[in-house]
Amino acid sequence: MSQSYEGLEAQWHDLFWEAEEAPSELPLMEEFLKEVEGDSLYVGSGSGRLLGPLIEKGHGITGLESSSEMVALSRERWPEAEVKEGLWEDETESKKALLLPGFTFQLFANPRRELQRMADLVGEGGSAYVSLFFPWAELSGDLPAAKWYPDRELDLPDGSKGEMRTKHVILEKKSLLKREHEYTLRSAEGEVLRKERRKQNVRFFVDTDLDRMLKKTGWKVTKEIYDFGEHDGDTVYVSTLFLKQG
Ligand SMILES: C[S@@+](CC[C@H](N)C(=O)[O-])C[C@H]1O[C@@H](n2cnc3c(N)ncnc32)[C@H](O)[C@@H]1O
Repeated sequence: MSQSYEGLEAQWHDLFWEAEEAPSELPLMEEFLKEVEGDSLYVGSGSGRLLGPLIEKGHGITGLESSSEMVALSRERWPEAEVKEGLWEDETESKKALLLPGFTFQLFANPRRELQRMADLVGEGGSAYVSLFFPWAELSGDLPAAKWYPDRELDLPDGSKGEMRTKHVILEKKSLLKREHEYTLRSAEGEVLRKERRKQNVRFFVDTDLDRMLKKTGWKVTKEIYDFGEHDGDTVYVSTLFLKQG
């Protein structure tokens, strides 16, 4: 089953990223694309947040996105960026390279199978860009398990407010983070205007398991970047992998 972003989750996706003030993945994607000769497919291209600027710079990329709402946002904001509406799991067209930033890979139900499909689609010499986050805060108990906690807040341009609460459980043996987000839209006066809940299953990978999966599916790691190039300290939250077949 796909985990498409819909409703307030889709509408607020970019605003939450902006509020995070996380470093952008764009420079890393551009570095990866320098070595790609031919067209790439960007899987889970969302609202075009990263796809749009890459198209503006002249890269040959097609977006693939399963959420009709995200596709609509992308086409409205970045009309020059081509986006196909569909599921990665149904994709059959071969490409030189695949881009999976923003943790989309972790939403796939069967990562091993999708790594194999990625390999088959790009063939010998093809490449892939994948970003993965590791849920340290959930695993260490810094975030409480099985109870709702306030996660993010937004001041929306029209004066209304957005809130997201989260509840999660970790199934460590399955390397699975199961979480639920509750999105609440409030008027400037605090009245609830809309409330939505969305469930999400996120896979995470310990190094040895990931190494094994990559090896079995013919992927070599040609570069690994920690925390979007701004890593300082022992704990790596995000790993970005440049992968090559063969
Ligand atoms: C974590 S968001 C990342 C969006 C975008 N890459 C970004 O960083 O702004 C994941 C996106 O992938 C889409 N998605 C999830 N599962 C998918 C699938 N199986 N095939 C295609 N798109 C998918 C979701 O609808 C969502 O827009």
